[in-house]
Amino acid sequence: MTDSDAPPVSREFATAASGRLTIVRGEGAELFDTSGRRFIDLGATHGVGNLGANPPEVVRAIERQAHELLYLGSIYANPVRSAFIDRLLSLLPRSFGSVFLSNSGTEAVEAAIKVARSVTGRTKVVAAMRGFHGRTMGSLSATWRREFREPFEPLVPGFVHVPYNDVAALEAAVDASTALVLLEPVQGEGGVHVASEEYLRAARAACDRTGTLLAFDEVQCGLGRTGRLFAFERWAVVPDLLLLAKSLAGGLPIGATVIGRELAPRFRGSHHSTFGGSPLVCAAGLAALNQLVHERLPERADRLGAAGLERLQSLPPAKVREVRGLGLMIGVEFREKVAPILAALESRGFLAIPAGATVLRLLPPLVISEADWTAGLTSIEEVVAGG
Ligand SMILES: Cc1ncc(COP(=O)(O)O)c(C=O)c1O
Repeated sequence: MTDSDAPPVSREFATAASGRLTIVRGEGAELFDTSGRRFIDLGATHGVGNLGANPPEVVRAIERQAHELLYLGSIYANPVRSAFIDRLLSLLPRSFGSVFLSNSGTEAVEAAIKVARSVTGRTKVVAAMRGFHGRTMGSLSATWRREFREPFEPLVPGFVHVPYNDVAALEAAVDASTALVLLEPVQGEGGVHVASEEYLRAARAACDRTGTLLAFDEVQCGLGRTGRLFAFERWAVVPDLLLLAKSLAGGLPIGATVIGRELAPRFRGSHHSTFGGSPLVCAAGLAALNQLVHERLPERADRLGAAGLERLQSLPPAKVREVRGLGLMIGVEFREKVAPILAALESRGFLAIPAGATVLRLLPPLVISEADWTAGLTSIEEVVAGG
């Protein structure tokens, strides 16, 4: 086989030449390429950068911890890990009692599936159409999009998908064989769709009625992004399992499955992650949580996001089908493909991402300056008007 016959390599399998733009440095919401050109991150970091590219307190915590202890197996106690877990739990309702730490969002989801199956002794998992929960085999089974799933089938049995925000369909699907209902309070990859209060309340009630566990996947919408520290606070519907990742450790790899106090003692079987809960990542996580709270970043996301949403909702309906979102998690659904809009924004120095073929997804760092956020919105208006 010659090189030209070789099948195209997915961008996920990185080679030294992967990526169109080469980004080498960042500060807050600014990213810089090799020539020193400045870009504003409107979503380029896929929601990891809630605190920006190099949050100083997180960097200092990593430096300090790196000199003390990088890694420690989870059979030993460690004060930094304990402090991080205590801090996380202190920010959550008292119904949560423990945390399983891993290294990514997909692992946070896998742990939730295992906890639910083990604790309930049941197998069925109800997830939502347009939902995204990761790409390992369990979380992929809960992910909706056909292109993500089909090449890898057969997936894990027992997963069903119901239309998002459809109370009747959810109530019909959840029964005495259901282990878990897994939902994003705001769907990210699926196009930025916000759950209705009625839907999440109905999910809680259906789970209570049938002895099913309810998990909220806040990997993308959690940690201040929607204008509350945790998205579920918007609806005051408390899940049994809360899944966090992305910005939780300020940019280092982490996943967290926060588990209801009553559930951990009922878990049978084993689950473990070699790197999960390393002192280095926990030190970063503690600093990141403290920054989120001390700098009141959820309130900032609420204010900047509401102003942005209002402006974007005035985009011309001839081009834009709908603008949706909560806080600094906004989707602009176009009547045509979004790729040319993203390219035009990039040429003006703004990096955003799609959510499907037609949705522009905005997930800027919550520390973005008002001037940069306003400039980003103006650029979107200009690109839409001129395109
Ligand atoms: C809601 C949600 N869950 C899970 C994941 C998977 O996270 P990771 O890519 O860290 O495995 C993502 C990633 O985008 C996500 O948005």
